[in-house]
Amino acid sequence: MTVQKLVIVGEKQLKGETSVSGGKNSSLAIIPAALLADGPCTIENVPDIQDIHVFETILRSLGAEVSYQPAERLMVIDPRTVSSCTVSYDLARQLRASYYFMGALLGRLGEANVPLPGGCDIGARPIDQHRKAFTALGTQVSDTGGALALKGNPVGTRINFDLVTVGGTINAMLAAVRAKGNTVLSNAAREPHVVDVANFLNSIGARVRGAGTDTIRIEGRGHLRGGIYTVIPDQIETGTLMIAAAATRGDVVIRDTIPTHMEALTAKLLEMGVKVTTDDDVIRVQFGDIHRNLQISTQEYPGFPTDLQQPISALLTRAKGTSVVTENIFSNRFKHLQEMERMGALVRISGNVATIEGVTQLRGAQVSASDLRCGAALVIAGLMARGTTEVDHVEYIDRGYEQLEEKLNALGADITRTTVEE
Ligand code: EPU
Repeated sequence: MTVQKLVIVGEKQLKGETSVSGGKNSSLAIIPAALLADGPCTIENVPDIQDIHVFETILRSLGAEVSYQPAERLMVIDPRTVSSCTVSYDLARQLRASYYFMGALLGRLGEANVPLPGGCDIGARPIDQHRKAFTALGTQVSDTGGALALKGNPVGTRINFDLVTVGGTINAMLAAVRAKGNTVLSNAAREPHVVDVANFLNSIGARVRGAGTDTIRIEGRGHLRGGIYTVIPDQIETGTLMIAAAATRGDVVIRDTIPTHMEALTAKLLEMGVKVTTDDDVIRVQFGDIHRNLQISTQEYPGFPTDLQQPISALLTRAKGTSVVTENIFSNRFKHLQEMERMGALVRISGNVATIEGVTQLRGAQVSASDLRCGAALVIAGLMARGTTEVDHVEYIDRGYEQLEEKLNALGADITRTTVEE
């Protein structure tokens, strides 16, 4: 079997301009949401990443007509031909977001059979809150050999989530927009992509109010038309590029982004001593004179995002002093730090807390990505390290970052992709 590696020659300063691709997690919710329309939907700014290609296959397997032009970042979905309510195990297990076909198929057909989702191994990822929402909407929910079988047209209701869940909030929204009657979601997630999905649904005739707050009100509509919609820029790609710029003591202008989505990270970089300036849809990150240590505690939006915890903790391995990183969302999201110990990082992990003693230098080593953001964090580690770092299991990075190494190389990094026999 052949596998791909990234070979990174470190200590190159990143300089210049780059731009951000369309949101992965937004696209992965908006594409299934298009199944709720009664006409074709054109989705713009869809990133060319592996997870999107899997979704294209799932849509076709359900009977939808799909045309995806990766070079144009354009997907056209005509859901009027959808005839199946069953997603295959082989497709669903490839990614987490396959759970959105539960809410979308339920909303469209009143029936869905969707295997429990796969996705990155970053700790336990139950979907009890999704089930709770479907049940509250009057749907029969049963387990059938590793899949969830949902039956019955949703009826509007009130749902109070026991915890804040992005996936659960979006799935409930998908199931409720065409329900009979009104639905109120409380303790809802406020992430930018929750708002993006609501905006998309509203653009095709749904009535979703309050997305971006913890209470979302949905008036069920029997009919949704087709339309054209542009996905927001990827918040986590933006953050990864910001951290890479800081890590290489560079000076990078990041275009096509939404600076207000980045406030939690921006505040932390400023606290570290990094210069961050923003203007309209642009963020500039410049090295200050020193990187100070930080305390980071991940939270739901607008708190510090768990998806940027891995990249920023890679950066903190070289900050001055001791940093403490507390991961509150997922239980197993420090594997990048364990890998970075091979590079000379000084880390102590106890439960959900990582204590990082800043070192003056990292050295290149062979390391292994075990999930998407772990891969991004190891690339950042490689950019900082003296010598050559090899990051294997690049497929994790390809699932969620569009042309990461090309973008970094255009800024002055030295990253080569090689294919090796395993
Ligand atoms: N949770 C439950 N029960 C549920 C749902 C969630 O206990 O029914 C728990 C989870 O175990 C976790 C917390 O609630 O501890 C938050 O989970 P959430 O449902 O918000 O996460 P998700 O929908 O599984 C999405 C993103 C993740 C991102 C999280 C948090 C997608 C496809 N995935 O996951 O993205 O980390 O929200 O923001 O949108 C990534 O892009 O690398 C990634 C992992």
